[in-house]
Amino acid sequence: MPSRPVSPLWNSLALDRAAARSLQDQIVDYFRAGVLEGRLKAGTRVPSSRALAGDHGIARITAVQAYERLVAEGYLAARPGSGLFVAESHSERPLKPAVSTVRRAPPRRRAPALEARLPALAMSPRPDERLALATGIPALDQFPWSDWARITARLHRERPLDALGHGDPQGERDLREAIAEHLGAARGITCAAEQILVVAGSQQGIDLAARALARPGDAIWTEEPGYPVGRAALDAAALERVPIPVDTEGLDVAAGVKRAPAARLALVTPSHHYPLGYTMSLRRRLALLDWAERADAWILEDDYDGEYRYGGRPLAPLYSLDRGHRVLYLGTFSKVLAPGLRLGYLVVPAGAVDAFAALKAASDRHAPSLTQRVLARFIGEGRLAAHLRRMRGLYARRRRALLDALGREAAGVLHASEAPEAGLHLVARLAVPADDVAASRRALEKRVYAAPLSTYFAESEREHGFVLGFANTPEEAMAPAVRRLVEAIAEAGPRDLGRPRRMQGNSTAWRRTA
Ligand SMILES: Cc1ncc(COP(=O)(O)O)c(C=O)c1O
Repeated sequence: MPSRPVSPLWNSLALDRAAARSLQDQIVDYFRAGVLEGRLKAGTRVPSSRALAGDHGIARITAVQAYERLVAEGYLAARPGSGLFVAESHSERPLKPAVSTVRRAPPRRRAPALEARLPALAMSPRPDERLALATGIPALDQFPWSDWARITARLHRERPLDALGHGDPQGERDLREAIAEHLGAARGITCAAEQILVVAGSQQGIDLAARALARPGDAIWTEEPGYPVGRAALDAAALERVPIPVDTEGLDVAAGVKRAPAARLALVTPSHHYPLGYTMSLRRRLALLDWAERADAWILEDDYDGEYRYGGRPLAPLYSLDRGHRVLYLGTFSKVLAPGLRLGYLVVPAGAVDAFAALKAASDRHAPSLTQRVLARFIGEGRLAAHLRRMRGLYARRRRALLDALGREAAGVLHASEAPEAGLHLVARLAVPADDVAASRRALEKRVYAAPLSTYFAESEREHGFVLGFANTPEEAMAPAVRRLVEAIAEAGPRDLGRPRRMQGNSTAWRRTA
């Protein structure tokens, strides 16, 4: 094909030196748009990099690199000895002017038939970090950005090539050592770095344990009420959940032995039951360990917020009592730093590490190496311990402020218990026969996230109330948030007694099924 002359279009290339986009990006954008919109026809010769640079007073290398990108993306093609031309393929079918590159939602189609059993994910709507009283979220505005940025910058300047390839499925050695030290100091746990598996938050820990320790169809004890998101992982692994009631002493082990003596696994939160907050008594702990030993079963201890105690002595984890190596300990950085990091850890018996690492590798190879290294240094420099010290003080004040606000603004409507002084949330039970799901939905419209307590129950007689987070809500915002929640309760009206409910997996708001 004969080549067309150099297009006068270049004259309209206007480079803005003050713009946020680099000059190279602006050149690439300009040519891409010209080709896609059909203004630059196939075969049109583009000016040489020298001419482009000269005409626009830019460094030649900028023009060369912009052209290299356009060639790599197929917009331009080189003809030996003749220069660069607009390539054929792109200009044959000029696209509509790119008014917007934002993709619209595809039209609704029937869902494809999937083999997977869909977990009943009772996490909708997701706790939004901007909503007052959102549960499960630490104080995100207190994230230690400056230390994190300093450590990240230093690490990146070192250009650690070995962190760019595939890493160890078990996790970065430095991070595992730092976690072992953190566990000793913060939770009194003695373990070796070799026993630690770095996972993508507790959620992946539950998933891996469910798949490593049980077979599809095996029974697993879960707390009733309990952590709905954890339940979803068990459903995805096709385990048979057996809800075991929880009272003020924690999981009722005798009830578990009665209902499913041969269960393979028990998922428990002994330090701070989720969501009711009870601490499992020593009597029950020993009974649970005894059952696991006799039944040849495993216990997965989810110690999601064990670092936070504001009064009394911190309680040793179940893991420390275990002599038979039946307990796997699950920890997370979601509460001590931020859930968005997606980093947590499992402490497993030394003999089981390889199997867990193999499962982790099969799932997602390993956690991001650079982030792991930053976190390892963050812990190693004592920054995590310092951050935790500061957050304990802040959360104790926020917890007090929420309890005071509930006492003042919701007297006779909500009842929150003072104990235990721990964690990042508390439970406020309804003292009136209101509908917690409907009230929660109303509260969302008022920018308050009040998770309905009844939805934490999988099957048993439900209690009604709210699980309220205090860590990410400033003290001065507590009273207005509680006032709005009380309004929402009044607007929602009385509950329809005798009508069962449960959460729907893919809902965008709290939903009820009859
Ligand atoms: C009982 C329980 N376990 C674990 C977690 C933390 O989950 P992840 O580490 O997956 O963010 C939470 C967070 O809300 C929780 O409530």
